[in-house]
Formats: sequence, structure tokens, C-alpha cells
Amino acid sequence: MDKFIINGGKSLNGRIKISGAKNSALAIMPATILADGDNLLRNIPEVNDIYTMKKLMTHIGSDIEFENHTLKINNDNIDCFTAPYEHVKKMRASVYVLGPLLAKFGRAKVSMPGGCAWGPRPINLHLEAMKKLGAEIDLDGGYIVAKAKKLHGAKLHFDVSSVGATGNALMASVLAKGTTVIYNAAIEPEITLLAEHLKLMGAKIDGIGTKTLTIEGVDSLSGKEITNIGDRIECGTLLIASAMTKGKVEVEYSHPEHLETVIWKLEETGLDISVNEDMITVNAENFIPNPVDVKTAVYPGFPTDMQAQWIAYMTQAEGESTVTDTIYLDRFKHVPELNRLGANIKVINNSANVKGPQKLKGAKVMSTDLRASASLVLGGLVAEGETEVLRIYHLDRGYQHIEEKLKKLGAEIERIDTKEY
Ligand code: EPU
Repeated sequence: MDKFIINGGKSLNGRIKISGAKNSALAIMPATILADGDNLLRNIPEVNDIYTMKKLMTHIGSDIEFENHTLKINNDNIDCFTAPYEHVKKMRASVYVLGPLLAKFGRAKVSMPGGCAWGPRPINLHLEAMKKLGAEIDLDGGYIVAKAKKLHGAKLHFDVSSVGATGNALMASVLAKGTTVIYNAAIEPEITLLAEHLKLMGAKIDGIGTKTLTIEGVDSLSGKEITNIGDRIECGTLLIASAMTKGKVEVEYSHPEHLETVIWKLEETGLDISVNEDMITVNAENFIPNPVDVKTAVYPGFPTDMQAQWIAYMTQAEGESTVTDTIYLDRFKHVPELNRLGANIKVINNSANVKGPQKLKGAKVMSTDLRASASLVLGGLVAEGETEVLRIYHLDRGYQHIEEKLKKLGAEIERIDTKEY
């Protein structure tokens, strides 16, 4: 099991390119199940969640090659309709195969995801949508068993805006008979890319990028080539790393408009940050951030996936701030670990009160989930002395070679294979 050893206190300087987005790749991969023929997905990050989806799809019979950030996928020989527990327990996004398998083959058996590291993450909206579209759903031995002769169009009203449920409903409805309308659809850029991908394959979808999607079912879709968007969360994490280490960094990122709220909040902290078409530049020499409160919200609000990193950032701010998560109320496992580095953070309900500025000091800390690990790396980058971040397999799920990127910018960070757990 790998860990990072970080020798803190080095400013980041230079230029870095952001990898493809994990969460859109995890949606457009299973979307290819719906299509006949060959699919080519470009700008796919080399992260473990992608390898997990690749394994799962190979298990059901997809033929997949992954080279140079490009996935070649052909699903013409799918002959198994089960997403086994061993894959789903590793990655909840495995549940994305439910909609496409049901729509294309009329059946799917998907292990029910359990709780996740920071609390319950239900999939009731996914299942209700499948039922409304005409599927029969049973629960058997921890598996969702879904069947439908032919899905039909329906009106779907989501009480909560859900990325995954919107994605699954969209993938199920493109081959359903008749018209489907999804109200309160998620408008995250990853879902917009999924809808554009489906449209390219021949689906009929109106309202892409809005909260109401109208889908007219078609008989078949055909494989196409698509380029994935850049990872907005990786970009936001590196912008915060640059600001915290008082660095001067140019970040090459294709879609700064997807990160507007984070950039706006960074500006509010007083950071010198400028945005060009596909480049974000941070100049943080001698910079001390102002404390700025954030409250996470669905897109285009402040992303929950940047909450942990923002808390790490605020430990260096001149004063007190409050960081509230309204999406995942319990997502604060990083707080006690950041406090081990010397931060002064208290969690009350779904808010963290951060008292800055605190001089952090290197210590051993433990990753508990993907974004929590990122916040610990940020802490380690500014802590005095040596920080060990254990269990970085969480980080490897979603950040492509993060230590190489940070090293290139001047950080002292090493990956060590360790027996320590
Ligand atoms: N929800 C329900 N019922 C459902 C589905 C969701 O109540 O059936 C609730 C959730 O409990 C949560 C809210 O709806 O409070 C939003 O959850 P959503 O369904 O949007 O999340 P998700 O699709 O499971 C994706 C990302 C997450 C990211 C969230 C929120 C992927 C593969 N995952 O998850 O990414 O935090 O949206 O933006 O796209 C990460 O990358 O670290 C990560 C966790």
C-alpha cells in the first residue's frame, strides 16, 4: 500500500496541464453500452476508478483497449448483465451500468452499493426512475434485479438534483419507446457531456445544459468518437495548492467556465488569479488569504468535491471562516486529520468552523476518501517538516499522478510502497 512523504514549505512554480475529468469519463464509458459498433473516448484520465469501470465492463463482455488516454470500446459481444459486488463495493459509479443494460438488453443485475466512507448515499432516485420507465425492480441477495421487455417514456421529477440519477435516467430513456421528460435534472458539466455524447451517437435530447431534459426514444445508437472535458476538481485542487504555497503557477485547463464559482471564491480571498480561454494563472507570492465562507451546492454552486480542499486552504487564512456542506452532510472525515497537522477546525452539524492562520506541522495522517486525501496533501505542502499521507489508494481513484504534477511544480513529495496501513 502506497503513502506519500511530503517535505512541506516549498512554493509551487511553473506550468501544469489538467487531466481529463474522472466523473464524466465514468458516465460516457457505460453510455457506450447503448451503441452498436466502435466507440473512441479521448482524454480519459489514468486513474483507478477508470480501471475499475474498465474491469466491470470487460466482465459483462465489452471489448476495451486503453492507451494514451484513449479508450476504444466495442460492446457488440456483451453477454453478461451483472455488475458484481466486488466492483460496486470499490466504486459506486458502477451503478451507471444499470440504465444502459436495461435499455439495451432489457435486464440488469447490479449489486446494491452500501454506505460510503462519509455516510449514506442512497440510489432510490435511480430505482424510481427505472420503475417509472417501465422496469420491474426486485432486491435479491444484495442485488438490484431489473427487468423490462421494452422501456417506455415517462415524466421523471427528481426531488433532489442528482448527477448519478440524471445520468442513469438519461441513458435508460434514449432507447425507450416515446418521450421522457426529466425535471430537476442535474446540470453538472459531466452530465452535459454525457447528453452531448448520447446525442452524437444518435439520441434525440432537447434542453441539454438545462434542468429540464426532453428525450425522444430512438431504435438504436451507433458508436462515435468524443473528447472528454478537463477535470474541474483536479484544476481547483491545484489552484488551491498554488495559492497555499505562495506559488506562481499557470494551469492549462480547457473549461475555466466550469470552475467559475471556485475561481470567484478564490478571488474573494484576495488571490491574484487571471483566466484566459484555456489557462488560469495564479500569482500568490507573499500572499495571505482572507477568510471566505463557502456553502456547497449543486452546479453551478460551490462543488462538494472541493469542500475538503477549501477547508485546508482556510487554515492559512487570516481569520475565521465557515465551510458548510449541503450535499453530503457528514463529509468531514478530513477534519480530525487536518487537526493532527495543527489546524484548528471544529465541526458542528454540517459546517466546519476554521480558525486561521495556523502554522501546520508535519505528522502522519490518514486518507479516508478521495477528496479528504487531497486536503491532506494540501496540508502537507505547507506544513513544516515531514508529513506522511497514508492510504493514498483513495487519492489514486481520482487524481492522475498527482505527485508527478506537484513535483514538476517544485514540491518535495515521494510515493513510497509501505506495509503500514
Ligand atoms: N441522492 C439521493 N438519492 C439518490 C441519489 C442521490 O438522495 O438516488 C442525494 C445524495 O445523497 C446527495 C445528493 O443527492 O445528497 C447528490 O448526489 P448525486 O447523486 O448527485 O451524487 P453521485 O452521482 O452519487 C456524483 C459524483 C461525486 C460528487 C457528487 C455531487 C460521480 C461518479 N460522482 O456522485 O463525486 O460528489 O456527484 O456532485 O460523478 C468525487 O469525485 O469525489 C465524488 C464523490
